[in-house]
Amino acid sequence: MEIIRTDCLVIGAGLAGAAYALHAAKAGLDVQLLSLGGPNDANSDWAQGGIIYDVETGSGLLTEDIMEASDGTANPSAVRQLVDEGPTAVRELLIDDLGVDFDREADGSLEFTREGGHSARRIIHARDLTGHAILSAVAGRVAETPRICRQEGAVAIDLLTLSHNTDRAEDRYAPLTCFGAFVLPAGSTEPVAIVARKTVLACGGLGHIYQHSTNFPGTVGHGVAMAYRVGARLIDLEYVQFHPTVFYGKNAPRFLITEAIRGEGAVLVNVNGEPFMEGVHRLASLAPRDIVSRAIHREMANSGEPCVYLDLSALDRGRLKDRFPSVFRRCLEHGVDIRTDPIPVVPAAHYSCGGVHADLQGRSSVLHLNAIGETACTGLHGANRLASTSLLECLTSAKFTAQADARDVAGMAFKLPEPRAWESPRTEADPTLVAQDLNLVQQTMWNYAGIVRSPRRLTRARRILLEAREEIQSFYRDCRVTAQRVELRNAVQAALLVVHAASLNPRSKGAHYIIDE
Ligand code: SIN
Repeated sequence: MEIIRTDCLVIGAGLAGAAYALHAAKAGLDVQLLSLGGPNDANSDWAQGGIIYDVETGSGLLTEDIMEASDGTANPSAVRQLVDEGPTAVRELLIDDLGVDFDREADGSLEFTREGGHSARRIIHARDLTGHAILSAVAGRVAETPRICRQEGAVAIDLLTLSHNTDRAEDRYAPLTCFGAFVLPAGSTEPVAIVARKTVLACGGLGHIYQHSTNFPGTVGHGVAMAYRVGARLIDLEYVQFHPTVFYGKNAPRFLITEAIRGEGAVLVNVNGEPFMEGVHRLASLAPRDIVSRAIHREMANSGEPCVYLDLSALDRGRLKDRFPSVFRRCLEHGVDIRTDPIPVVPAAHYSCGGVHADLQGRSSVLHLNAIGETACTGLHGANRLASTSLLECLTSAKFTAQADARDVAGMAFKLPEPRAWESPRTEADPTLVAQDLNLVQQTMWNYAGIVRSPRRLTRARRILLEAREEIQSFYRDCRVTAQRVELRNAVQAALLVVHAASLNPRSKGAHYIIDE
């Protein structure tokens, strides 16, 4: 078995992982950066709305908005870090260093927009392609940085820990300590071990364990599943945020319709063109996402209609194509011209507010294992995330974690151990069965653990998923490892973790809404 040794192994190359790699390399550390696909194949790339750059409006208000969106449950120290440090993180890396092409007013100043739950215009954006603009710039810099070795198409299979993956007897009794991961390189059938002083989970969230999601394909909770298997503390997994507005068309794929459209004045209406958010929340169509998604769910249940609509008549129609080019193009591909038509929308799974428990320097409960970005849970979002905090969290968590790791590695006594070799079965798995199983997981989560949950639905989900996990595990033990099977194994595990967390919490709060039925 090939063994690669490095300072930092980063699993995931979305904004959090790529920004961590840049900061770590700048601090003199060598980095192996793994990505499932190419440089832009990540959730961050699909973020449309923008990133908070709260330099004008006063940090007190932003703190209040994050707290209100979370229904009072967010962790105040995580909120403080984001509010106090966010503007510097954005300015240093994105504006001054990389010169990301954010939209500007005629006088050259940054243009600000608004999204749900925000009491002020404090979000900067690059039309509706903000994630793409940011990730392209960061990934471009990664490609030019000699200390970063980027491995595209590489899949992390399992984390290496002292207690599980060495032959030294005394390691079994050491505190839980991570020292890298088994990884399947692109196009290979033989896993390698990447042995690292610091291992960073930056694998995004778990939206694709649901049938309908705004997430990049393959985002199935790889981070939480791997962390769970080594015994890391996980937290808040019942809080899966549903984005209220995802395109709906009978045979069309679901794709995000950015909340910034509502920030600019679009209004949610029912099939009769009647606004229905006015009596629900003082911010009406711009209420926090959990509230809007539930109101849409209720409206659809009451009307029997398959969707609601975004009425864009208050917007400057002539500007729509330039301001929201990606929404414009994609809607037109499916027969909706946003300059004249309302947009049919439904909610879909969007963001995991919970994840691998991490402190404000990314440290998990396992020594030398970090989690950042959406994979982590510092409590920043509590039970429901405020819009446009996610890219900002990627930047701040990457920066503080890399800086802490650089200090740590400099004074580190930890000698990297020899991992025990990987043992590979030779049998090939049937790909049809794999696809079938992933469908089962996604449908189960959508039907029984979605926007509205009940103890009975969750019990059913648990039963189905437990049986599926048995099947999938035996597959996994007996057949040669492939990227597809790693995804399936992690998907069913992440789904069970969400269902388990939801079953243990009888209290509706934020994105977790449970009825007694
Ligand atoms: C959106 O543009 O509506 C999504 C942005 C986010 O999730 O923060």
